[in-house]
Amino acid sequence: MRSITTLDELRAARLSLDGTVGFVPTMGFLHEGHLSLIRRAKEECTHVVVSIFVNPTQFGPQEDLFRYPRDIERDLKLIAPLGVDLVWMPTTEIMYPQGYQTWVEVEAMTRPLEGAVRPGHFRGVTTVVTKLFNAVQPHKSYFGQKDAQQAAVIRQMVKDLNFPIEIVVCPTMREPDGLAMSSRNVYLDPEQRKAATILFRSLSAAKELYETGERNAETLRKRMKEILASEPLAQVQYVSCADYDSLEELTEIKSKTLLSMAVFIGGTRLIDNFVLE
Ligand code: PAF
Repeated sequence: MRSITTLDELRAARLSLDGTVGFVPTMGFLHEGHLSLIRRAKEECTHVVVSIFVNPTQFGPQEDLFRYPRDIERDLKLIAPLGVDLVWMPTTEIMYPQGYQTWVEVEAMTRPLEGAVRPGHFRGVTTVVTKLFNAVQPHKSYFGQKDAQQAAVIRQMVKDLNFPIEIVVCPTMREPDGLAMSSRNVYLDPEQRKAATILFRSLSAAKELYETGERNAETLRKRMKEILASEPLAQVQYVSCADYDSLEELTEIKSKTLLSMAVFIGGTRLIDNFVLE
């Protein structure tokens, strides 16, 4: 496994990889969710490239860019046994040199949900992912279902910009009590950590209703809100029952559907979702 920083090193190393290349972009502070993406890439591709870069342009001015957990040594130790060929850790100056002024923006589907409460977030994500794709030139790239809207936006971008890259979306990894794994879970104190299972419990309650035949989207949204309201530490930002592809809010469930939510537990913003097939 080689760790590299500069674009020249990356390009030279990439040239030496023949066969298929699987790419896992990350912001570091890796957990089992990231490792599952790397394992899947390893199963499906000849070579695997991982990037670690905390992308400043996807954080809003009031968000946690400077607090975002970082531990490169720990990350490299976790990746080492997985058979990764290259770990690329570019600097901010490499990704956004002085005078930078080019952006990639997906339109309609970045407006609801995360886009509505995190203005500019997806512009930062699609721009950095485009730059990472251009540099790494992978055949396949791996994203987690936990960031459902991000995965949908990247799929749309790859289609619209004719990137010859297959986007593979892998299942959300969960703690034994259902909490979706996230680098931000380290912000939670023990009481908040307990309260954080409310997202999973609320999604599970809505799914149960769906499984007993309920198809009214508002009834499912109400059920999720009721359960969330039972947790005093939870402050709901949004709760959604939307079409899986367009992300438009539904009246009635007729096809693949995304139940999703963003909830503050104390000062920590958590997101989670379930897909109703
Ligand atoms: O999901 C993430 O960790 C980030 O949004 C990504 C895709 C690495 C872009 O910075």
